[in-house]
Amino acid sequence: MSRLCEGRVAIVTGAAQGVGREHALLLAKCGAKVVVNDIGAEIDGTKMSDNPAYGVVDEIKAMGGEAVVNGDDVSSWEGSKRLVDQAISEYGKLDVVINNAGILRDRMLTNMTEDEWDAVMQVHLKGTFAPSRHAAAHWRQLSKDTGKPTTGRIINTSSTSGIYGNVGQTNYGAAKAGIAAFSIIAARELRRYGVTVNALAPTAHTRMTENLREYTPEDVEQRAPKWVSPVVVYLASEKSQDITGRVFQAGAGMVAVCEGWRRGAQVDPLEDPEALGPFVHEMVAASKKNVGMDGFDLD
Ligand SMILES: NC(=O)c1ccc[n+]([C@@H]2O[C@H](COP(=O)([O-])OP(=O)(O)OC[C@H]3O[C@@H](n4cnc5c(N)ncnc54)[C@H](O)[C@@H]3O)[C@@H](O)[C@H]2O)c1
Repeated sequence: MSRLCEGRVAIVTGAAQGVGREHALLLAKCGAKVVVNDIGAEIDGTKMSDNPAYGVVDEIKAMGGEAVVNGDDVSSWEGSKRLVDQAISEYGKLDVVINNAGILRDRMLTNMTEDEWDAVMQVHLKGTFAPSRHAAAHWRQLSKDTGKPTTGRIINTSSTSGIYGNVGQTNYGAAKAGIAAFSIIAARELRRYGVTVNALAPTAHTRMTENLREYTPEDVEQRAPKWVSPVVVYLASEKSQDITGRVFQAGAGMVAVCEGWRRGAQVDPLEDPEALGPFVHEMVAASKKNVGMDGFDLD
């Protein structure tokens, strides 16, 4: 394995299991020092009795790498500050934040509870904002102090469920589409400090997805989290300085760029809604369709 991230210091949130664990292990294999963040949660966000983050740190140390556990809740403002501070105090700097922690509370809109909505927004959206905000302020100060841009990296975790749209997940999908938008906007704001911000929509066989349908052994291999992490580790490296504000898709047999919203057909404005009606139909017919979960036009 190449030492692409030699000496870089990376935080990975939700790194005790699944996709985050794989990011942490590959970063360490590529030479990064890793802060393995996780509260040790069940899929719905409730706490487990033991935090498997310690096992990931043990695995990294066993292969000669450097890693430390952080058990803070990323959706907490103070917890995220402690997380960023811990990376800097432990390893003397911070280069990369990978916001990966996530939970599910799936429900059709007609039955979704306020708590199911709030919990998902809290972990995904605030859990992306809070660590990013503390790290961004650190990098801005560093850039001002040194008079040079940094090589800071934020890599957020979106989902095809949000950017393409999946039934039964208005809460999760809205949060994940929000994370894609957050990444594009933060990329524009932080470019001046040398910080890149990108997002990943992974497809991986983890406890979050293993019960969605029957998987053949070939499916499981093709969806192994190991196929998702290489693009993330590349984005974490110094070599990706020119790539920012993009959303990538990885897993299940491919790595791809997800193309964003753009303006379709247009007409001059009309004051009368009824007169505008035929043009609305014409514009919709002339514009690209929304895509399905495979990323291609719906029929
Ligand atoms: N597996 C997929 O196919 C898939 C698809 C699209 C998006 N995602 C996203 O990828 C990310 C990882 O998913 P996964 O499949 O590995 O799930 P997972 O359940 O295996 O891992 C999520 C981890 O996040 C941790 N976590 C939850 N809340 C936390 C909090 N408040 N603070 C810190 N840690 C917390 C959990 O303890 C867990 O270890 C999630 O953001 C998920 O939404 C996954």
